[in-house]
Amino acid sequence: MQSAEIRKRFIAFFEKRDHAIIPSASLVPENDPTVLFNTAGMQPLVPYLMGEAHPQGSKLANAQKCVRTQDIDEVGDKTHDTFFEMLGNWSLGDYFKKDAITWSFEFLTNKDEGLGLDVSRLYVTVFEGDDDAPRDEESADIWKSLGIPEHRIYYKGKEDNWWSPGDNGPCGPDSEMFYDVTEEGLGDLTPEEFNAADDRQDVIEVLNDVFMEYEKKDGKVVGKLEQKNVDTGAGLERLTMVLQKKDSIFDTDLFDYLMEHFSFIEDVRARRIVVDHLRTSIFIIADGVKPGKQDREYVLRRLLRRMFLHVRLNLEGDVKKVFKEAIEKVIENYKEPYPNLTEADAIVMIILEEQKKFESNLNAGLKRFNEFTGSISAKDAFTLFATYGFPFEMVL
Ligand code: SER
Repeated sequence: MQSAEIRKRFIAFFEKRDHAIIPSASLVPENDPTVLFNTAGMQPLVPYLMGEAHPQGSKLANAQKCVRTQDIDEVGDKTHDTFFEMLGNWSLGDYFKKDAITWSFEFLTNKDEGLGLDVSRLYVTVFEGDDDAPRDEESADIWKSLGIPEHRIYYKGKEDNWWSPGDNGPCGPDSEMFYDVTEEGLGDLTPEEFNAADDRQDVIEVLNDVFMEYEKKDGKVVGKLEQKNVDTGAGLERLTMVLQKKDSIFDTDLFDYLMEHFSFIEDVRARRIVVDHLRTSIFIIADGVKPGKQDREYVLRRLLRRMFLHVRLNLEGDVKKVFKEAIEKVIENYKEPYPNLTEADAIVMIILEEQKKFESNLNAGLKRFNEFTGSISAKDAFTLFATYGFPFEMVL
């Protein structure tokens, strides 16, 4: 199943179940100074989860653009990326656990309307309970009624089965769904075996239902919200990897054409970094950010420069042409769900301008770099990084 079809099916599934389909918010948060980028589907909805009435009602769904850079060092493995789309459905004081879990289950397993995943490969986790909230027997019972055997439902603590966007705001216990991606199938697993399979990425988390009925202040759960909410999220990249039976997100149709485009970069990790950072930069620029010295502009600059470095190390030829074509391909692939991407020429220009600046800094920095003999001190490394804009991996 193509990624576009997964996105479409999710939206159609929840539209049919009376959810209003809302557009993706910008990656630049409108009312939240605590984050540089939108990091989850629920982020633009915080005021409504806290009780404000949403103009489109109490049942919502969408595909939301997200950027998370805290795992940037992991980009290059099989599953990490800095930009992703989160498919989500929300209840703002409307339905709660029964409908949320039932619909998640149906979406994952129904062949006609959903993804047709194999029930015998599903495992779920629920919250084990603590002083803040009780053991989530209710969710476990719903899972059992849907045909998930008791021994494939694992109880876990706050570090695994509690979700909040930060130290303040709505939060609550969650129930996560995992899918067995091994060829032979793992069958029944003890809790220890399940954890080991999770570490090996033999089971992949495909959907998370958060039951947001609590509030956090300064990192502590302080009580219940006025309304019981549901916040679900499924990463499109991971779902696509599972559905397309690929070993990494970079082999799915969301990335494979770009991996091909940059195939002159032999090191696979470096190539994955380039295609990831390029896609993320395009989306950030399309939402109005330019590379610069502060905050989100600086994040964009670092993403671009790290990408330029890897391309520069592998390409003698026409860098401009390579980027121009790559950007056009990304836009072609995404312009239907994200029509604000259409300004291809403007995006190409911003990226190539930054590339020119990087090249001149790089040449100046390389001269300085060549003056060093022996190992570079931390101070020199910092100069190369801060003054000449060398990406970290060049100076460490
Ligand atoms: N907000 C939750 C998450 O990011 C569910 O969408 O996992």
